[in-house]
Amino acid sequence: MINGVWTTLEIALVSAIIGFVLGVILSLFKIGNIKILAWLSDFYTSIFRGTPLILQLTLVYFATPQLIGYDISAFLAAIITFGFNSGAYMSEIIRSGINAVDKGQFEAAGALGVPYWSMMKDIILPQAIKKILPAMMNEFITLTKESAIVSTIGVLDLMRRAQVVAAENSLYFPPLIVSFAVYYVLVMILTILGRLFERRMSRSD
Ligand code: ARG
Repeated sequence: MINGVWTTLEIALVSAIIGFVLGVILSLFKIGNIKILAWLSDFYTSIFRGTPLILQLTLVYFATPQLIGYDISAFLAAIITFGFNSGAYMSEIIRSGINAVDKGQFEAAGALGVPYWSMMKDIILPQAIKKILPAMMNEFITLTKESAIVSTIGVLDLMRRAQVVAAENSLYFPPLIVSFAVYYVLVMILTILGRLFERRMSRSD
């Protein structure tokens, strides 16, 4: 089961990184003035938010391989699905962060002739991300717990290993309550780390 903890954390971390990168790109498209990109990003978000994650995972792992004929490992299917799903949520979080940055920051950058991309990268996004740290922490915690559904495609994460131990011994309570406690402790540790990071980031205020 201890090995499962690493798998769980690995899935959450890798998906969060994919989700963050996708989220930044999609949020910039959403606030940009290229209509088609904004529309596509909204469409992307509506698809990934509008359907159950477990169904997306099953589509990526079982259904599409059958249709197009590719082979994908359960782990890869998991991080792709979770990363893409998280990108949808992350893009909305980042978009709200960008909107929360004072308009004067955009105007000042414009007045100084800072090009659009450097303005976003060096001035707006760093301030936006500071404002959305609690929301991003929420997303990371969601990913950590939702990763339990990879047990349905056979990834040996904490959840799946608890089920295996339970089945092998025909004894459900001990392994399940242990995994229950481990998820809880994991999320508590993440919460504390998030708080510390937030405090560190607000030092410059
Ligand atoms: N159980 C939800 C679903 O199936 C989880 C969505 C994932 N949420 C997230 N913030 N990445 O849609």
